[in-house]
Amino acid sequence: MLSRQVAAKLAAYETPFYLYDVELLHQTLESLMTMASRYGYKVHYAIKANYDARLLQIIREHGLGIDCASGNEVRCAIEAGFDPKTIVYAGVGKRDKEIRYAIEQGIFAINCESIEELYVVNDIAAEMGKVVNVALRVNPDIDPKTNHCIDTGQADSKFGISYEEILDRVEDIKALKSLDVVGMHIHIGSQIRELHVFENMCNKVNLIVKNLTALGFELEFVDVGGGLGVNYDMPENEPIPNFASVFAIIKQHLQVGKREVHFEFGRAIVAECGELITKVLFNKTTATGRRLVIVDASMTELIRPALYGSYHNIENITSESEQRLKYTIVGTACESTDVFDENVSLPLTKRGDLLTLKTAGAYGMSMASHYNQHDLPAAIYSDEL
Ligand code: LLP
Repeated sequence: MLSRQVAAKLAAYETPFYLYDVELLHQTLESLMTMASRYGYKVHYAIKANYDARLLQIIREHGLGIDCASGNEVRCAIEAGFDPKTIVYAGVGKRDKEIRYAIEQGIFAINCESIEELYVVNDIAAEMGKVVNVALRVNPDIDPKTNHCIDTGQADSKFGISYEEILDRVEDIKALKSLDVVGMHIHIGSQIRELHVFENMCNKVNLIVKNLTALGFELEFVDVGGGLGVNYDMPENEPIPNFASVFAIIKQHLQVGKREVHFEFGRAIVAECGELITKVLFNKTTATGRRLVIVDASMTELIRPALYGSYHNIENITSESEQRLKYTIVGTACESTDVFDENVSLPLTKRGDLLTLKTAGAYGMSMASHYNQHDLPAAIYSDEL
């Protein structure tokens, strides 16, 4: 909970804006990288979660690489000073110019998600006179037990190449002379809270790596993706995600010999350090008796509730009232799904009060849009207050 002094300082800034707790980000990265180095694991930050320049600078200082989903994300990472040799690039639909750019920059690996993509990357590399490092993104058919909007590893998903298809096409893949298949990649979904899912994932990876090796692929690394979830319900209870548990599970169950093991965490790194601060514009009650609080943020600044029905804990950080009421918190956008939450118990909430939507550091700002011609929200950092 933000202190009264901090809340008073926030009143000076134009709302809505993202507030980042840089100290918490440092602590999170410290915890993550201490654990990772204990096991010799490599960590890439999934830049799609938040590409704020200041956050990227801190993430780079802690020695992470980057996981990208587009050519512009690769460019953004390089401009932020990340070594291309620490950048991986996945995505089901890479454009030719994005593939060309990634090859030019000499990134660590392009994670290919279809047989057709392997052919195209091979052709582009050949044209450029290069041999490019790729990883096969395999669809492992695993249920990650998360919101169905953000699972990526079930058999019918658009992500990755089915293991069976790889087996069928082994000789074709090996014949692509401008590719070096150096890795295997898997990412089963996001906001995974049932950690035993990672054990299932390891069992699948073990099998796949063993068989691909027997078929003559010389895999140097296994990239097991990201997906570790955070505590949206009670962020105060778990400001730093449980990296230790995930790493322990992977250590215990993954059997890939001396190959490097890579991770691509996004949400777990930045979700908790960010919150969206918004101001109450109006109160009104619907004809049905629903008490609405209309705030100056909307789905254009934080789309997760409207898009996935996701929950963000909301607090009034300025009201000093003892009286509590149940409110529906809605945004300014001309969309009926632009509702942040219903039945939120808040102290008496009035025009001008500041509300915070917590755990918004991941997939908040990076998914913000200009819908209704809104300006993009600013970023304020805790050490500048
Ligand atoms: N690696 C790959 C290949 C990915 O597709 C993703 C996320 C990650 C790593 C990072 O996953 P994380 O550690 O953040 O779970 N916008 C949604 C989440 C979409 C995730 C997309 N891929 C949300 O707001 O919940």
